[in-house]
Amino acid sequence: MRIGIHDLSLATSGYVLDLADLAAATGVDPDKYRIGLGQDEMSVPGPDEDIVTMGAAAALPILQRHGRDGIRTLLFATESGIDQSKSAAVFAHTLLGLPSTCRAVELKQACYGATAALQSAMGLVARNPGERVLVIASDIARYEVDTAAEPTQGAGAVAFLVTADPALLEIEPAVGLFTADVDDFWRPNDSATAVVDGKLSIDAYLDGFTATWDDFRAHGGADVTEIDRFCHHQPFTKMAVKAQRRLAEHTGTELAPERHATSTVYNRRLGNSYTASLYAALAALLDHEDDLAGKRIGLFSYGSGSVSEFFTAIVGDAYRDHRRGAQARAALDDRVPVSVSRYRELHAAARRDSAIDVEIVPETRTPFHFTGIRHRARQYRA
Ligand code: CAA
Repeated sequence: MRIGIHDLSLATSGYVLDLADLAAATGVDPDKYRIGLGQDEMSVPGPDEDIVTMGAAAALPILQRHGRDGIRTLLFATESGIDQSKSAAVFAHTLLGLPSTCRAVELKQACYGATAALQSAMGLVARNPGERVLVIASDIARYEVDTAAEPTQGAGAVAFLVTADPALLEIEPAVGLFTADVDDFWRPNDSATAVVDGKLSIDAYLDGFTATWDDFRAHGGADVTEIDRFCHHQPFTKMAVKAQRRLAEHTGTELAPERHATSTVYNRRLGNSYTASLYAALAALLDHEDDLAGKRIGLFSYGSGSVSEFFTAIVGDAYRDHRRGAQARAALDDRVPVSVSRYRELHAAARRDSAIDVEIVPETRTPFHFTGIRHRARQYRA
């Protein structure tokens, strides 16, 4: 049975910071961000936005196109959790008007969570091909200001529908897996920002890539020459370049930049979107190339801490009729630019004490809003 991704939709926050402005404000050469990291902008959430509002905004167009019937599972992957107990999936389930005869769960393993959700969804559909599983990957990347990691922040969400006989992508069975306990990046329970050892995280990512590659090949995965395009988790888009270089060395093959370049188009503008990043890369690839029908894509998922997975997918014959390039470009183009000082105010305000009731007036042009905290519970509305 063919199982995979039937529809894929991207959303982001209402505000954006131009990294040239951040460079000017911090006295850094803007080429360090533009060329050195491969980043132009980063999405900045407004006070009325969070992982739930972005995730629901990504999923809504999928439900408008395909309806809600047969969706009995909503999997929400994130590493920017808003509650230690109640899942972001339950909040999104309400905002999206999904039927009550549905399971709603959150998954976490840093940026890898959405791939765990995809594989779990594939299992559910294999067991009952009439089911459709909605997966949401949504994250806000926040580090301390005035650190090397500051320009690698961002925000975004990707939703996708996993079904039998998918229109966009059939996921192939061979996978490569790798788990290694490493303190490269994490976010303690009492912290609104991540702790990161930047250089170690890059090494851990690249080691995870080659290890999953070897495991993928040992489990019958395609040869490097049989993979037409690559999409990687992209904390910053230069990371995809580093990964391709490493794979070329590891396999003794030349890998031309066109094998991965179009996958970086959205991430250059989103910044890091953690769980959503790999799937934003996939969206960019499908939206920007017209000759992918029947081609094989290799996808590398990395979640710090760390868990890695490499897998492949075959692009559907009619994928061009099902992609959403105009919607993704509008989500990016419609963001309102903010100054460095406004971005820093928003960054500081993200540390919220749940013991203090607050009402937040909607200010961004998003279909869903976080409207504050009442009796310690988060409030949302469409
Ligand atoms: N013009 C052009 N390029 C320039 C330049 C200039 N004026 N100045 C510097 N550069 C280049 C450097 O040569 C370097 O390029 P290479 O990596 O190709 O050598 C690049 O810009 C970055 O410069 P630095 O090496 O000086 O790096 P930094 O100290 O500024 O830190 C970082 C970079 C480690 C990525 C930091 O931003 C960081 O810690 N980010 C968060 C962690 C992260 O994203 N890790 C990625 C792997 S972990 C993961 O994938 C999970 C996740 O999502 C977090």
